[in-house]
Amino acid sequence: MKAENIVWHHGEITKKDRQVRNKHKSAVLWFTGLSGSGKSTLSVALEKELFDLGIHVYRLDGDNVRHGLNGNLDFSEKDRKENIRRVGEVAKLFVDAGILTLTAFISPYKQDRDWVRSILPNGEFIEIYMKASLEECEKRDPKGLYNKARTGAIKGFTGIDSPYEVPSSPEIIVDTEKLSIDQSVDKIVEYLKRNNYITLKK
Ligand code: ADX
Repeated sequence: MKAENIVWHHGEITKKDRQVRNKHKSAVLWFTGLSGSGKSTLSVALEKELFDLGIHVYRLDGDNVRHGLNGNLDFSEKDRKENIRRVGEVAKLFVDAGILTLTAFISPYKQDRDWVRSILPNGEFIEIYMKASLEECEKRDPKGLYNKARTGAIKGFTGIDSPYEVPSSPEIIVDTEKLSIDQSVDKIVEYLKRNNYITLKK
């Protein structure tokens, strides 16, 4: 049930104030793609690179967030939606705090990703599609989960018996079958520079 009688209380420090102090913009880099497409791996490498460049950066990862904040959610359509809703709201808070925020969630439904985009101002939601075929992800199978899904030990696994909706117009596409991790990191850092998200001080 929705609470009533609550009024927004403004602070004295704005998002802009924080961005000016940090000397870079804040935004969400929203990684989406199949399990095994490389979201976590790339976001870890990108976080390290940005941190070393002096950027205030933080990473939210599906497997990790499901250990805590979203520990009460399963993989039904309804709970995946709630997973993304909560992460979207948390990411929005991080952006308000002036942080360049990386999120790594399958986020299989276009509607849920578009909802996160809609709660952020223009330019503060950067969708990154981790392109990798199901065949390739199954071959990689880093956690052995595709194998379990194929044998029926896991039900409702994304790509097998649960859908993944490919983004129609993501800001960035990373072709993970062609690019190395380093090349992928470079591609995203270039995007951030070109679009004036980060002022490099190194
Ligand atoms: S999402 O669909 O709700 O966005 P999320 O990114 O949080 O998913 O979690 C996905 C991770 O949970 C996968 O990388 C995998 O390790 C694990 N997992 C366990 N069961 C499933 C399932 N049925 N479908 C997809 N991933 C699963």
